[in-house]
Amino acid sequence: MTETQQILKEDYNSWYNIVKDIINDEEFQKRKYFKHHEKQSVYEHSILVSAYSYKIAKKHHANIYNSTTAGLLHDFYTKAWQYSPELEKLDEKYRANFKEEKHHTKLLQMHGFTHAIDASFNATTYYKDYINDRIISAIRTHMFPLSLLTKYKLPKYKESWIITLSDKIITLKDFPTLKEIPKYLGIRRKK
Ligand SMILES: [Fe+2]
Ligand SMILES: [Fe+2]
Repeated sequence: MTETQQILKEDYNSWYNIVKDIINDEEFQKRKYFKHHEKQSVYEHSILVSAYSYKIAKKHHANIYNSTTAGLLHDFYTKAWQYSPELEKLDEKYRANFKEEKHHTKLLQMHGFTHAIDASFNATTYYKDYINDRIISAIRTHMFPLSLLTKYKLPKYKESWIITLSDKIITLKDFPTLKEIPKYLGIRRKK
């Protein structure tokens, strides 16, 4: 049984029906080459966050479609943040971050603060027919409490809180030590 099946159990098929078009789409498939951390791609991470968001939304009578879709697209940013040799299989534009001479040194320009907003625009570019304003808002604030320093501030809707919570639960499973927290927050680039 996969980790997603373990999270969803009998709800697996209903979850899959919501996410299948995006998951199987060529652009989303490219996230298999984006590293989330050593052991996991952004593709795998996004699927787990989506599955967990489905589960919490169902339990707490929140909007399942919005929570599931926002969970899937919350890290759908345009350029890979961590380098991995697999990225060479993709177009150069996905590796643009590693070509830039200057690295962003200002805190608010770092990945942790910018990728949520980037992901919301990218989601609109590729999957406008699958999303809505509440999904976009949830994606933009998923890095709460860092979102407080952006113009989008607090998570606004129930599904916004669900995806920010699911993202933390799924991520912290793999980053168990305090030393790893800055990496998770995107305020320290991994070597
Ligand atoms: Fe994120
Ligand atoms: Fe995430």
